[in-house]
Amino acid sequence: MRVYIKTYGCQMNERDSEAMMAKLLAAGHTKATSEEDADILIFNTCSVRDAAERKAKGKISHIRKLKQRNPNLVIGIAGCMAQRLGEKLLDELPHVDFVVGTGQLHRMPEIVMEASSKRMAETLESKDVLTGMGEHLPGGVFGQIAITRGCNRFCSYCIVPYVRGREISRDREDIVREAKEMVDAGTREILLLGQNVAAYGLGGDIRPPRPGYSPFADLLEDLDSIDGLERIRFTSPYVTYFNDRLVEAISKCSKVCHCIHLPLQSGSDRVLREMNRQYTADIYREHVAAIRRAIPDVTFSTDVIVGFPGETDEDFAMTRDLMNEIGYSQSYIFKYSPRPGAKSAALEDSVPEELKEQRNQILLGDLAERVAGMLSSMVGDTVEVLVEGVSARNAERWSGRTGTGYMVHFLPDGDVAPGQIRHIKVTRAGAVSLFGELLK
Ligand code: 5AD
Ligand code: SF4
Repeated sequence: MRVYIKTYGCQMNERDSEAMMAKLLAAGHTKATSEEDADILIFNTCSVRDAAERKAKGKISHIRKLKQRNPNLVIGIAGCMAQRLGEKLLDELPHVDFVVGTGQLHRMPEIVMEASSKRMAETLESKDVLTGMGEHLPGGVFGQIAITRGCNRFCSYCIVPYVRGREISRDREDIVREAKEMVDAGTREILLLGQNVAAYGLGGDIRPPRPGYSPFADLLEDLDSIDGLERIRFTSPYVTYFNDRLVEAISKCSKVCHCIHLPLQSGSDRVLREMNRQYTADIYREHVAAIRRAIPDVTFSTDVIVGFPGETDEDFAMTRDLMNEIGYSQSYIFKYSPRPGAKSAALEDSVPEELKEQRNQILLGDLAERVAGMLSSMVGDTVEVLVEGVSARNAERWSGRTGTGYMVHFLPDGDVAPGQIRHIKVTRAGAVSLFGELLK
């Protein structure tokens, strides 16, 4: 049967979709080119904000007409929303055949077969959540490896610990073997994924590791020694896990990119406490300073929530000031969305939508200004990029990314190919990316 998977949400979901697809192909199915062309249609969903759930539900309701045209079409909902709402989705969406939670990836081929004769919902937390996490689709310059599953931190706003369960780390040998296989098949950049990657190998303990100790650093060093691999990135680490050992490993491993995603969430100590984030603005600052001392060209990106319950103008101003002080090269700003089941849902969602939007726009404006400044200061520099391929926007140009995370567009020469490391002279700065000339 022809399978189409539509993915919502984060990179972990992208990765899970790839693993599901690989499993289904191995079971003899093929890839469909579009939703209309599919016999099996799976929606891999996200629950992190209400808008993400509404978007997926809207799309799935809409797909009813495909089922009317093709009654044999099997429609399934997977991922975090499936885990959160389970059977309720079968009631709400009568044309859906199966709902399958986050711990059942590896069972997808059986589930699809079962669901073609009987509607079903399966959201039990599976004991073997790690099974099937190593399945990949062939080839590709860019690859992703999930190194942990779940989260133990329970930030008060976050639904993830409830829908993805307790944090578990995969075996280091499995991860390294998987990375080597990917590199043999042509992968040049690997993105390591986890809700808190820096908690890798700590056995689910929520205390950051003691000085001198970081199993995540050990893993980075192992991966850094793989011949043929050019770049290693990771997302997301929790700030307080950046101890001396991890910072040193990142600075010494030549393949680990100097661009670190470091979720801040808020710059107000009071709000951070309410969020159950285990740091203050000063602790965050100190970690950033320590990383910058060891890795002078590092760039930071972040996640921030505006409009958390009780967030005052002063709280927001502290977030804004801290963001400008750190000088992120990218930030993802989210308007607080109460998630039933998460702790903060008990607090009144006190910041009106208009104010959340206003704060969102202010931070976006600051970011655009700062990014424009950073990009124009790079004009004239020579940068090293990993070539991705033809630009999405303009078929005459190619693009590649610097280790520090900037996208650079350039005209191809006869030799350029995806996966190459090339040097580029930056000639012009755009609003969010750079333009330049390939050097020989
Ligand atoms: N409301 C808004 N943003 C949220 N995030 C997580 N939960 C919520 C929520 N309930 C954001 C956090 C996290 C990112 C992935 O999503 O900033 O880092
Ligand atoms: Fe959610 Fe916090 Fe875990 Fe990130 S660290 S997934 S924000 S609970």
